[in-house]
Amino acid sequence: MLTMIYACDENGAIGKDGDLPWRQSSDLKHFKLKTLNKTIVMGRKTWDSLGRPLPNRRNVVMTRQEPLQGVECMSYEEVMALSEEEEVVIIGGGEIYALFLEETKEIHRTIVHTMVEDADTYAPDIEDSGFYLIAERRAPAGEKDEHEMTFQHLIR
Ligand SMILES: NC(=O)c1ccc[n+]([C@@H]2O[C@H](COP(=O)([O-])OP(=O)(O)OC[C@H]3O[C@@H](n4cnc5c(N)ncnc54)[C@H](OP(=O)(O)O)[C@@H]3O)[C@@H](O)[C@H]2O)c1
Repeated sequence: MLTMIYACDENGAIGKDGDLPWRQSSDLKHFKLKTLNKTIVMGRKTWDSLGRPLPNRRNVVMTRQEPLQGVECMSYEEVMALSEEEEVVIIGGGEIYALFLEETKEIHRTIVHTMVEDADTYAPDIEDSGFYLIAERRAPAGEKDEHEMTFQHLIR
């Protein structure tokens, strides 16, 4: 099964200048909980922004260039085939979310309650794609968070 996880602002922005546009420690904890011990798939630009594999997860990177050194790379077809056998979590960024949206069954979306100026990367538009909310929890900004956030779980 394919699932997806992302954090976006109130306009759907997810990135700016190759990085996350906020510091949200609580969301990183949530991300860890949802991805631990699973296969995570990311685009090469997100891989570059992380700078290292995320521990205790099978890290998979997508690139159209030569396979990268030191990390497993897969094609679209290989990711889809793996998702027939196990849960595969798409972790971004914008290009890779758009690529897999049609095949995605479940989304963990965090709305970060801010509006980022000059954002350059956006989450896919999931309006009219059949997803509906099955759980939602608003959380205040903790000590290491810049903004309040709402954790949502959507399926179709
Ligand atoms: N808020 C969040 O939840 C979240 C999560 C993740 C990332 N982000 C942010 O999103 C931004 C990065 O997103 P992005 O859209 O610029 O880049 P991206 O999706 O991370 O990576 C794009 C790259 O993926 C590869 N790619 C794309 N389609 C492919 C295909 N069909 N087959 C094989 N490889 C393919 C290409 O790599 P090559 O150029 O090597 O060919 C492409 O340049 C950053 O700002 C990051 O911080 C935010």
